Formats: sequence, C-alpha cells, structure tokens
Amino acid sequence: MTPVITVDGPSGAGKGTLSARLTQFLGWHFLDSGALYRLTGLAATNHGVAFDNEPALSLLAEHLDVRFDSSGERTLIFLEGDDVTDTIRTEDVGAMASKVAAVQVVRDALLNRQRAFQEAPGLVADGRDMGTVIFPEAELKLFLTASPEERAKRRYLQLKDKGHDVSIARLAEEIRLRDERDTNRSVSPLKPADDAFVIDSSGLNIDEVTDLAIQQVKKKGLAPS
Ligand code: DC
Repeated sequence: MTPVITVDGPSGAGKGTLSARLTQFLGWHFLDSGALYRLTGLAATNHGVAFDNEPALSLLAEHLDVRFDSSGERTLIFLEGDDVTDTIRTEDVGAMASKVAAVQVVRDALLNRQRAFQEAPGLVADGRDMGTVIFPEAELKLFLTASPEERAKRRYLQLKDKGHDVSIARLAEEIRLRDERDTNRSVSPLKPADDAFVIDSSGLNIDEVTDLAIQQVKKKGLAPS
C-alpha cells in the first residue's frame, strides 16, 4: 500500500509550510484538502447554489471540474478552466469553504476524490480530518497546533505584510471562536487522531518544527535512504 503521512490541525499552526517541506524532503505527492473545500465554496457561489441546498452542493462537490498543475514552480489550480490559484486564498472564499465544510454530504462527496491522491511513491495529506476520517490507516499522523495567541500573531504579521491594518486582539478572538466551532461541530470535528504525534509549534520556528516531524518520519522508516 502506498504510504501516507497526514498533517492535521487548526488554521495558522503552520501545516501548509510543514507539509510542503515534508513533500519536498520525501519527493511524494501532496493533497491540500482545504483547497477542495475552498473550490467547492467558490463553485457554489459562482453557480448561485445556496449553502443550505445540500443536494445541489453534494452534486457540485462530486462533479467539481478541478485541475492541479504542478509543472511549474508553484502549483496552479484551475476551476472549470479558470486559474483560481490566488482567488481561493482570500478570506471571502475561506468563509465559503468553512460553510460547505460543515455539510456532511459535501464531505462524503469529496471523500473518494481525496483518497485518489494516494499514489506511489507516497502522499502527504494536509487538512483537518486526514488522520481521523480520510486516511485512518496512515503510516504517520502528525497534528500540528499552536496557541491562539501565537496563531493570531502570525496572521497579524502576514496581513501587515500585505498592507492590512488589523488588531491582534481581534484576530486572537476570531481564532478562539473558530477553534470552538471547528472542535465542537458534529461533522468531522477537528481533533487529533488517537495515534497522532502532536507538535505544538508555539515558540518554535519552522526549522525546529520540520526537524521534529522528520524525526518521526525516520522513526517510521519512511525517510528516503
Ligand atoms: O486549510 P484551509 O484554510 O484551506 O481550509 C479551508 C476550510 O475548509 C476551513 O474552514 C476548514 C475546512 N477544512 C475541513 O473542514 N477539512 C479539511 N480536511 C480541510 C479543510
């Protein structure tokens, strides 16, 4: 069976960067499951499908016309032929994603599409329920977290970098609320798998986090020789 490493955790914990580093270190494939929820949310909006129209959302998710093009330096994402690589990263699309992600039939419709990424020589899967629902048999399950204050600080620096002026206290409050929603939702709530290795990245830099993760990769005998 093709090996899988899952990287789950709340937003802002550094999953994206860690997953990218692991993918490169191993030379494996990469699944950005959050992008699929973002694409479903965007497609729903483009087609005027209401977020409470579950049958229509499910159909949309199942038939999503998506293409990931990894031939260049950065992976480009196309929805129905349009390049939406940057569009899907906006806060607006993030909000659409979190709405469709709470709908069980959407999650069901995206299940097989996510599992199809499991191809040789291996897969690094980034998300919220990779280790608990999508790849419960994964060889290594990482759960990356960080305190709300730390994640607010990182988000603040990111936004400041883009020229946005925001309050760090407000960001921390928003993150706390989102954590509460994600952890307590009935559908695939955000929680570490029982057999996950938890890394708290508060106070650690990305090199230190990567080192901790690679130690686990080696321990499982998954590192290239
Ligand atoms: O990781 P992200 O910010 O791109 O995720 C976008 C949204 O999708 C976010 O609200 C969480 C949700 N999501 C999810 O419910 N399950 C996943 N496996 C990945 C993302």
